[in-house]
Amino acid sequence: MARKPFIAGNWKMNNTIQEGVTLVNALKAAKNKNNADIMVAPSFTAINAVANALKGTGFIVAAQDCYFEEKGAFTSQVSPSQIKEAGATAVILGHSERRALFGDTNEILNKKIAAALRHNLQVIYCVGETLAEREANKIETVITSQLVEGLKGYTAEELKTLVIAYEPVWAIGTGKTATPEQAEEVHALIRKVLTKILGADFANNIRILYGGSVKAENVDSIMAKENVDGVLVGGQALIAEKFTRIIDYE
Ligand code: PGA
Repeated sequence: MARKPFIAGNWKMNNTIQEGVTLVNALKAAKNKNNADIMVAPSFTAINAVANALKGTGFIVAAQDCYFEEKGAFTSQVSPSQIKEAGATAVILGHSERRALFGDTNEILNKKIAAALRHNLQVIYCVGETLAEREANKIETVITSQLVEGLKGYTAEELKTLVIAYEPVWAIGTGKTATPEQAEEVHALIRKVLTKILGADFANNIRILYGGSVKAENVDSIMAKENVDGVLVGGQALIAEKFTRIIDYE
């Protein structure tokens, strides 16, 4: 089953507009020898300039979040149509920092996914367990509820552009990468849960990314796993040479 690789960079709250443009201009040197979808997710403020710098390259530009309402009195929030107007065609939803620091629940994320899909934005939906949950043997329960509750009410057809990112919370920004075997185990579990809720075809076709301390040094062994279709990279996506090497993984 050939799934197109998907290599994504989540810049988090880093990079000025100028730094972002400089970074993506350097990324254009990647050969993209694996014929991957390549995505970058700048801060809202840099989306427009980065999207302009990447015009015609095929790179995907994503926002790191969006709100579920169209417009109105929601101070500080940004709507799907606003990020789309700025040049984004995708959005990361449910990142663990959003869940842990800003109160994004599965229920809220279910509404955000609906809003994004209404505007034909590609959704990268993040799931993952904390260390305490892993140690308490709750991986399956946590991942299942994130998938079931987050994706509730959608058909496989409506979710056909969806990408899932498995990001164990204990591996994010800690330098502690999951082993390729640990990643593979949870990716297979995700496919099993998706088979139950959306069918085998959907589960076989959807791309599942691993995220959490991915580096140039470990990307090859992670990408070698059967159920790993790509990576969502934080820290190392800020460094042009490192992210270029990740894009052109072996
Ligand atoms: P990291 O972040 O690569 O810096 O661990 C990954 C992420 O949070 O998406």
